[in-house]
Parts: sequence; structure tokens; C-alpha cells
Amino acid sequence: MTTDLNSKFWSNFSKKYWEKKPLALKNIKSPVVAIGEAEIFELLILFSNKCRKMDDPAGFKFYIDGEQISKMDVLQILPISNDKNLLGYHQRMNKMFSDYCLVCDELLQVSTKYKDHILEFTNSLYQHVGFPNQFTEIGLYLGNYKKTPFGVHVDSCGVFSFPIVGQKKFRLWTTEFVNKNPKLDRAFEYSKYKKNSEIVSARVGDMTYWPSTSYHIAESDGQFSATWSLGVWIDKSFQKTFSENFEELLGQESISTINKPMTELKKMPLASGEVLDLPESYSRSIQALKNLTSTELQDHFLKCWMKHLSLEGFKKKIQTDFEKLTLKSKIKLPNLKTKIIWKNSFANKNVIYVAYQGNFLEISKTSGLFNLILDLNKGVICQISHYLKPAELNIFNKSQLRFF
Ligand SMILES: [Fe+2]
Repeated sequence: MTTDLNSKFWSNFSKKYWEKKPLALKNIKSPVVAIGEAEIFELLILFSNKCRKMDDPAGFKFYIDGEQISKMDVLQILPISNDKNLLGYHQRMNKMFSDYCLVCDELLQVSTKYKDHILEFTNSLYQHVGFPNQFTEIGLYLGNYKKTPFGVHVDSCGVFSFPIVGQKKFRLWTTEFVNKNPKLDRAFEYSKYKKNSEIVSARVGDMTYWPSTSYHIAESDGQFSATWSLGVWIDKSFQKTFSENFEELLGQESISTINKPMTELKKMPLASGEVLDLPESYSRSIQALKNLTSTELQDHFLKCWMKHLSLEGFKKKIQTDFEKLTLKSKIKLPNLKTKIIWKNSFANKNVIYVAYQGNFLEISKTSGLFNLILDLNKGVICQISHYLKPAELNIFNKSQLRFF
């Protein structure tokens, strides 16, 4: 039986499973499963080469018998192209280590090639459960390890797992149960509690999910396996997001003109303890806030929201090399799933806010840049001279906005 991850599935998922209970599905129909062994190996080699070049294995962790090894040692045992494929890498490692685990976070950072596949999955999820205030993290777990190197644990994220090689078995407990049996936290030995656990297992083509409240550990008989996991972090409230955005607003020059380390006061509290006044700095800042119009406030929060939304739920922007555009340049969007998002300013209808991959730009509605953006979003190959005058090109080249 195949489960199509269509909108009917996601609607049911959001009602019955999201942040409620675990799920294991056989044979899912989703572009995520099209990222196979060969694709993962290709990404791993790209990432490993980059780490060797930078002399920094950031993004990789390697555990031997449950112990994390040092950064410099990680560099020595990353995959190399001579391994030919994941199994080749495993055979090389297996000769040295009877229990190893390679973890690679943010594998997509090195290439946008398979981002579409993930996006189709995450966008459908977000459509039904909301967009993360934090982000979704993508990790790869590979090795012959018998148990997760950090024991039974809980993360602040709901996790979707997709085996790429071999099969995967996860043992889960509820938070309520672990609260009553705290010895389980970080445990490797838990036979006493097995009867209280739930098992979710998956083979290549399958998917498992557990909510952020599930304590979990992966178990294996020592066979080689490689698994993708998508962790949707739910540890940031809207309140936190809003206050961060608000802090940004307060930091703006027009609002916060008082930047002194000492607050002037007219009088210290009276002998009775009574406080006589609110210092002048407060009154002035309150007045500056009150002077903000509703549309100015909307514009500020719109900018913050667009920057966040344009990251598409990923942890950070994907780094791409960028060449300055010339009038002769011909460009197109690297993929049409990731659109350049835009919206009119609330305060000024001639101003358009534009965001792409976490970068932001304010443009005039009448500028050629707006037409360029509309055409790029349609998939048109655009010759820059058809859209931009030299001065506009200059503004664009100086901005943080990058379309490829
Ligand atoms: Fe975990």
C-alpha cells in the first residue's frame, strides 16, 4: 500500500498526529523519497570537500562507541569520492569501527539541487500546521551504531525520518512516562521500560514521525543504515518572535534617540518610599512610540515577517557564490518553487518590499526591478538591460538581494 502525501493526508495528519502521537507509514508517495543513496552520497562528498578545504568539519559529528570524537579527527574520516558510494564509505569505516555514527546537519547547505524535494514536503506541512517561528533542521544519520549515541532523549522538535539505506527502528516513550521514570532520560539500558515504549520502524521509502514530546532512541542490530531526518523545531513562541521584532523596531534611530548607560532622575524615592516621577527618558520614548502610525507599525512587522518567510523555514540562508550582474547578464530563478516574495508597503503604495532567501530590499513600484522580479517569478530568462537602467543595476548590485 502507498500513502500519497497529498492535502487530504496533511489535513488528517494535522488533526490526528501533529504534536499528538507518533506515526509510521509504509511506501510514501512524496518527492522526499526521490532523494536516494546516490544523491546523498553526492551531497556528502560536496560537504566533506568543503570541510577539508576550510579545515573545519562544522556540520559533521562523528561518534565511536557512543563517544563524540574531536573536530580534527572528524576531518580524517569524512567520506571521499574514492568511496564511490555510501556502502563504500561504510565498508571503509566498518573495518575500523564496530560502532560508529556519522551525523551531518544541514546537508542542504552545500547545494540547492534537492531543496525542491524537501520544500514540497515542508510547504505542505506548514500549510496545515503553520510556519515555524524557529526553523526546520535537516540531518543525516549514518552508520552501524546499535543505539543513538546520546541515549534516550527528547528534542524540542517534531521529527520526520526517511531511511535511505537499510531499516530504522525507533523506540519511543511519552514525556508523562519519563517524568514518572526519570532514570530513562539519557539511558542506554532500559530493558525494564521496554514494555511501556512504542516502536516505530521504517525501511527505504517509508516515513516515521514523532511529536516533540516523544523521548526516543534509535536501535539497530549493527547493520548499516543511513537516514534523513527533518526536525521541525517548536521551541520558539510567537510572543518571542514578536518581541524580537519589536526590539528591532525600538532599536531604530527614529524611535530610540536615548542611548545612555545612566537614566537621569529628578529625585530619589522619598523617605516614605514613594517614587515621584517617571524619568524623562521614558516619557520621550513613550511619545516616540505613540507617534508611530498604525501603517508604520504594520510595515515594520511586515518586513520582519517577509525576511523570515523568505527563508522557507530553513535554518539559514543557503550560501551561493554571486557574481555582480552587468547589463548583458541573463538570469533566471534557479528554481520556481522558491519565488521572490514581495508586497506593497502599507504606508506608501509606491514602495514594494522584496525578500528572497532571508535578504530584503525596498524598491519603487515604477522601477524596472519590479518588472524583473515579476518575470523571474514566471520563469522567464531575463536579460538585465531589458529591465534595469545602469543606476538601478547599481542599487541592485549593492543590495543583499541575490537571485541565484
Ligand atoms: Fe533526537
